[in-house]
Amino acid sequence: MAALNLATFLGGGGNPTLVAVVLVLDALLLMASIAVALWFAQRYEEERKFGRAALDASHARLSSIIDSAMDAIITADPDQRIILFNRAAEAVFRCSRVDAIGAPLDRFIPARFRERHRGHLERFGRTGGPSRRMGDATTLWGLRADGEEFPLEASISQTQGEAGRFYTVIVRDVTLRKQSEDTLMRQQAELRELSARVLEAREEEKTLIARELHDELGQLLTALKMDLAWLRERLPPPGTELGGKAAQMEALLDRTVTSVRRISADLRPLMLDDLGLSDAVSWLVEDFGARSSIKCELTLPDDPALEKLDRRVANTVYRVLQESLTNIARHAQAKHAWVVVGTGGEDLRMDIEDDGRGIREEDLARPRSLGLKGMRERVLYLGGTLDIGRAPRGGTRLHVKVPRLLEGETES
Ligand SMILES: Nc1ncnc2c1ncn2[C@@H]1O[C@H](COP(=O)(O)OP(=O)(O)OP(=O)(O)O)[C@@H](O)[C@H]1O
Ligand SMILES: [Mg+2]
Repeated sequence: MAALNLATFLGGGGNPTLVAVVLVLDALLLMASIAVALWFAQRYEEERKFGRAALDASHARLSSIIDSAMDAIITADPDQRIILFNRAAEAVFRCSRVDAIGAPLDRFIPARFRERHRGHLERFGRTGGPSRRMGDATTLWGLRADGEEFPLEASISQTQGEAGRFYTVIVRDVTLRKQSEDTLMRQQAELRELSARVLEAREEEKTLIARELHDELGQLLTALKMDLAWLRERLPPPGTELGGKAAQMEALLDRTVTSVRRISADLRPLMLDDLGLSDAVSWLVEDFGARSSIKCELTLPDDPALEKLDRRVANTVYRVLQESLTNIARHAQAKHAWVVVGTGGEDLRMDIEDDGRGIREEDLARPRSLGLKGMRERVLYLGGTLDIGRAPRGGTRLHVKVPRLLEGETES
């Protein structure tokens, strides 16, 4: 078209028909160009409107998702002023969105935690990743608009905008859960206290019966033995009928004395009270070796601290050893057992190991077996730990650790 215009202008100026045709063509072309431009402008406008509508719809969808979330969602701008506060946040913090928007984030944190929270937030802004859980090891507390504090779980995320860093916090009110956890923990503590009391009462009762048996019955039997010895001196020799009966009586009496001692010691070794843990442990291990075919080796430090133990600590260690040795005799099918007592540091430690069949995972959870559970309760009550598992030699190994001094005591 440009070439036609040029040719007309240069050569055909004298031909009015040609000039008129070219002018008409030019006009037509101009109109077509304007029509095309208008069509493009309209399309552009339509697309812009469509894009905006899609964006608005997407925003509306996002807002409705945020608003229908069960957890409180709060976004704060780089000055830590709230710019988003969803419906759940209104319910959790008992504060309307109108009141919350523009307020500092701090407003929903109890005053005593604000400083620390600000520090955490700044550190998270500098070094944290895009998001993380808040207060992993501790309970976090929030502040409702009416001044009530409540426990919460929260996660935080950050996004970098043109104006700076924006933080979004997702908060869950865990008041009910915390209440049930607290109740559960209180009940557990009460149960532990109760079971400790029951065990203590049982221990006292056993001690009383053991003492009675040992002192009262033991003395009576000794007196009877002396009387019988006196009688035997005056009776005919053992070969005769009377002498033989007396010898039989004496043997029976000896067996009765041994039985009484045995029952008394099984109930409670009085030497635990009279001589201390070392002697009681030595006697227990020796007696175990004599009564079973299992060879038991004891390593016991010559430490005077063992004689000055709290009665409850001594009782616990003794009962744990007694139950462990009984278990070895009953379940382990072992040939050897090792008992090692250690007193270094603030704890008293004891390892009991055997080379038997080894304990299985399911053995630890038998509902009707109370031996291990009882041990664990005793030890936990004193603030100690008890671990039981496979020994390197293949059998069972039990490790117990209890503080030598209980709360409120000082070493003298
Ligand atoms: N030294 C051990 N070697 C192998 N298995 C063991 C050993 N000690 C315990 N067990 C297993 O662990 C289970 C639980 O022991 P626990 O002392 O709690 O109960 P128990 O001895 O069966 O009964 P009780 O309540 O009379 O003590 C036992 O039944 C046994 O199977
Ligand atoms: Mg047992």
